[in-house]
Amino acid sequence: MKFFIDSGNLDEIKSANNFGIIDGATTNPSLIAKEGIKGKKNIFDHYKKICDIIEGDISAEVISTTTKGIIKEGHELSEIDDKIVVKVPMIEDGIKALDYFSKNKIKTNCTLIFSAAQALIAAKCGATYVSPFIGRLDDWEKDKNAGIKMIKDIKNIFTNYNYNTEILAASIRNPKHIIECAKVGVNVITTPLKSLLELTKHPLTDVGLKQFLDDYKKNNP
Ligand code: G3P
Repeated sequence: MKFFIDSGNLDEIKSANNFGIIDGATTNPSLIAKEGIKGKKNIFDHYKKICDIIEGDISAEVISTTTKGIIKEGHELSEIDDKIVVKVPMIEDGIKALDYFSKNKIKTNCTLIFSAAQALIAAKCGATYVSPFIGRLDDWEKDKNAGIKMIKDIKNIFTNYNYNTEILAASIRNPKHIIECAKVGVNVITTPLKSLLELTKHPLTDVGLKQFLDDYKKNNP
């Protein structure tokens, strides 16, 4: 399973990358806005800085919502760096743009996916990735398993038809989401650094390590 860092913050991206387990990155307009970056040139320069840190695919999202505008912006984004994957929202105009990008060998990530139906359409269009949002669906459905149920359905459908589109599980809120995605067999999870580091944590590890060190120190004061 590939681990992508879901962030627009260069320090967090560098910190995550230093663990040697990061295979790519995803951003979205909210994550970029959170960094206070204004203006197309500054935003594109920021994407380039992320590309210079991370080996692997870097998702950068369009702002346009018309097919013509998405295609224009997608070309501009893909010219930033070969690592750039054009992130396109799951809307009707986005579907037409995904089909165009697929035919023109531009990598895409269809985002804001909240159902297996949306993922199916994106795969039919030849999207490189689909981004089903687990945490947001859990919150919206008030069912803490709604998100992973969606992931299981998508995995089942993609396996049935041997789609090449990769499942990039997103809106990860905790290590449980990551492990449930691994059990389903998604291709990629994208997560903030916090949830990734929480994978390393267990109370018994802390207790055990303290005991080891205390016992050592008894003989080696
Ligand atoms: O960046 C896409 C997705 O990971 C956003 O997650 O936490 O805003 O629901 P979140």
